Amino acid sequence: MSADLRAFALGLPKAELHLHLEGTLEPEMMFELAERNRIELPYASLEDARAAYDFRDLQSFLDLYYAGCAVLIEEEDFYDLTWAYLVRAARENICHVEPFFDPQTHTDRGILFGTVITGILRALEDAEDRFGITYKLIMSFLRDRPSSSALQTLERARLYGHRVAAVGLDSAEVGHPPEDFAEVFETARDRGYRIVAHAGEEGPPRYIKGALDVLGAERIDHGVRCLEDPALVQRLARDRVPLTVCPLSNVRLHVVETMSEHPLRRLMDAGLVVTINSDDPAYFGGYLTDNYVEAAGALGLTRTDLAALAEASFGASFLDDDAKEARIAEVRQYAADDKT
Ligand code: ADE
Ligand code: ZN
Repeated sequence: MSADLRAFALGLPKAELHLHLEGTLEPEMMFELAERNRIELPYASLEDARAAYDFRDLQSFLDLYYAGCAVLIEEEDFYDLTWAYLVRAARENICHVEPFFDPQTHTDRGILFGTVITGILRALEDAEDRFGITYKLIMSFLRDRPSSSALQTLERARLYGHRVAAVGLDSAEVGHPPEDFAEVFETARDRGYRIVAHAGEEGPPRYIKGALDVLGAERIDHGVRCLEDPALVQRLARDRVPLTVCPLSNVRLHVVETMSEHPLRRLMDAGLVVTINSDDPAYFGGYLTDNYVEAAGALGLTRTDLAALAEASFGASFLDDDAKEARIAEVRQYAADDKT
């Protein structure tokens, strides 16, 4: 990988549309917060924690991801977690973010919904003031818990109105089809939330169809398994449904075995709207720029391809049309002025 391409990808104006805030918890912060909140960790050292991040599949990752969340207790913890991600985002020229948070992971441990969201929103507001990073916050429901718990979470969010822009669906996919959450998402749509859903990461293509038809998803998170169903690929291309693809995540969770086998390029060649994202960067060995660079290196993507992916990231966002256009113009200007 040339240092030049990394410099190009780093400076490229980008949006990140698939990022779990809880997945940005670096081992260093996990240890710091564990000490601050007097919580015992299952790891003896930072190295011990990193060594445990050797996943077989989505579930083996989720087990550690949820265990790590035990250190997040106070509003300040959620602020610090979010702020640390946003400082990195600013360094990577990520100028718009649509991060997920998983309220149930915290409310089920007795943490108040208000504690979680207030910490997160304060950091997002501060980053908008300080770095000009715009945001739309996405509240994600855990699909391996009952839909009644998701409905209760939707009720809790009412107090915060449109400070939550969208709702999503994540956690263990196989065996938890979108149809189980039809009522929750219908209510969310009625209340004016935008809709996204994880589908087709480990689950079959029919879960992607369910997310579109039953949940009303406007974007599909991951979606890489759509390639197994040519008619679905045609539909996604025709309707310009964006996929938020996470290359390093897919390799680390063995959705694909190596980056050179990653379907990103095939998805682009099929005419799909594709964006690159980092998913859970503290666990998967890289932030957004790393995902651009590693995918480019393994799949032979050019600067023109990377600029097109960055344009797509703004186009697929929930920004209004004027803001999208302005950001896309910045990407074009950056590519035209490129001296890296
Ligand atoms: N929660 C955090 N990361 C996730 C992923 N990659 N898939 C499903 N749920 C998640
Ligand atoms: Zn995800």
